[in-house]
Amino acid sequence: MIEVKNVSYRYDDRAALDGIDLTIDDGEFVAIIGANGSGKSTLAKNLNGLLLPTEGRVLVDGIDTRDDVWSVRARVGMVFQNPDNQIVGAVVEDDVAFGPENLGVEPLEIRRRVDEALSTVGMLEYRGAAPHKLSGGQKQRVAIAGVLAMRTKCIVFDEATAMLDPRGRSEVLSTIEDLHRRGLTIVMITHHMDEAARASRVIVMDGGRIVKLGSAREIFSDVRWLKKIGLEVPAAAELGARLRLKNILSADDLIARLKR
Ligand SMILES: Nc1ncnc2c1ncn2[C@@H]1O[C@H](COP(=O)(O)OP(=O)(O)OP(=O)(O)O)[C@@H](O)[C@H]1O
Ligand SMILES: [Mg+2]
Repeated sequence: MIEVKNVSYRYDDRAALDGIDLTIDDGEFVAIIGANGSGKSTLAKNLNGLLLPTEGRVLVDGIDTRDDVWSVRARVGMVFQNPDNQIVGAVVEDDVAFGPENLGVEPLEIRRRVDEALSTVGMLEYRGAAPHKLSGGQKQRVAIAGVLAMRTKCIVFDEATAMLDPRGRSEVLSTIEDLHRRGLTIVMITHHMDEAARASRVIVMDGGRIVKLGSAREIFSDVRWLKKIGLEVPAAAELGARLRLKNILSADDLIARLKR
């Protein structure tokens, strides 16, 4: 559903993306990992036309982000790190209605979509609540509902769990996995290797390029290399790598453990 063709992006004179080629299929769950400044957010913003490539093209369902950014945004939504910056409404259901209202959807249909979206993220009972009284995880779920109400087929999460406590993080992760089961295409940028391990494909970025791409199993089997490109490898993965060196734990066991 998304094709990134030889995309480079420059802020002023600095190259943040350098010749990215990537295809994401309908219904895929892709994780993007990489050190700070490796270009993950810049790539994410190029996927839904928040940024337009300096060189190359991004196609969403065959639509060039340069040609019709609104059709692109109706297909690819984004959820960012800070839940407080994403909520605009004073009441949860008004906030979720904001997106479809802007798309010109008729009021009755908006009602239906808002209820459906809130129920999908498990927040229907909070529809009349004031967003500022919600926990971080609940706010992120409302932000996700706002994207769902626009009926996008793909959601890009740019470190959407980074500011959450463990409980909020786990709520949002379960929501993301549930959306994937429902058929949405998921692109998840994360610094947490245990989160990336849930994806069917992991993309590793370094210096504005994709330097490795494969299953979680393939990517996490080389802890030494991950560390070399500046990724924090959690204690569990490191311990796993050591145990595997001694043939005590298989790579599959390790992935299963990271997912827990
Ligand atoms: N608005 C901007 N203006 C100028 N340079 C920018 C801007 N945003 C990002 N950059 C630069 O572009 C490069 C890629 O940044 P980007 O935010 O895409 O990285 P990232 O992988 O998302 O990093 P992080 O893990 O810290 O979120 C970095 O060198 C960064 O300093
Ligand atoms: Mg970023």
